[in-house]
Amino acid sequence: MLEVLKFSAKNGEEITLRPAAPEDAGAIISTVRSISPERSYVLMEQYGKDEESARDYILGMDRQNNLLLVAIANNAVIGCLAAIQADYGRRPRSAHILNVGLHLIEAYRGLGIGTGMLDYAIGWAREHGFKKLTACIFTTNKRSLHVFSKAGFKEECIRRKQIRIGHEYIDEVCMGMLVE
Ligand SMILES: CC(C)(COP(=O)(O)OP(=O)(O)OC[C@H]1O[C@@H](n2cnc3c(N)ncnc32)[C@H](O)[C@@H]1OP(=O)(O)O)[C@@H](O)C(=O)NCCC(=O)NCCS
Repeated sequence: MLEVLKFSAKNGEEITLRPAAPEDAGAIISTVRSISPERSYVLMEQYGKDEESARDYILGMDRQNNLLLVAIANNAVIGCLAAIQADYGRRPRSAHILNVGLHLIEAYRGLGIGTGMLDYAIGWAREHGFKKLTACIFTTNKRSLHVFSKAGFKEECIRRKQIRIGHEYIDEVCMGMLVE
């Protein structure tokens, strides 16, 4: 599989997908922090801290077992996807699973880019011998549920009142996809 993939978004702009480089750290942080109550916890936990820790992570990451993918439009990072080995690969029993988080800046949502990034990650997982992908998505996040379902993820369980946003408690859907 080619590491760099180019395609056209629904607005005609050329999008490039490629694995993240250390110099993307600052842009990844701003992307992950950009507006959305539904931001991905996989991404927030891993890269939401500061630019320096994101750069250190990218420099030291095990690229055989973890994918950090960026989407570029007009020479700028506009989205990122992390597929992180379950339990950071420490437990052989769950080492076949990747946990996925995906986030685009607002201006680039709804243009087919998230779908393209998820397809890339599924291909990468297959090529690297992973057997399952998982993602946790708020029940209120209809667009994300649609994108993951369309890619082949199935609902596995619902964690009720898993997240509090303001005064509201929100359920979360755990989705999984078996990689054939
Ligand atoms: C969720 C997210 C990653 C999806 O990526 P995207 O590029 O915006 O999505 P796409 O344009 O590829 O696909 C959107 C699909 O959802 C559909 N959709 C849009 N709003 C919808 C809604 N309210 N209900 C159901 N489907 C909806 C669109 O019609 C489209 O479907 P289609 O491809 O079958 O035509 C992106 O919107 C995002 O970053 N959101 C904020 C962060 C987030 O929620 N991350 C997910 C948590 S892991």
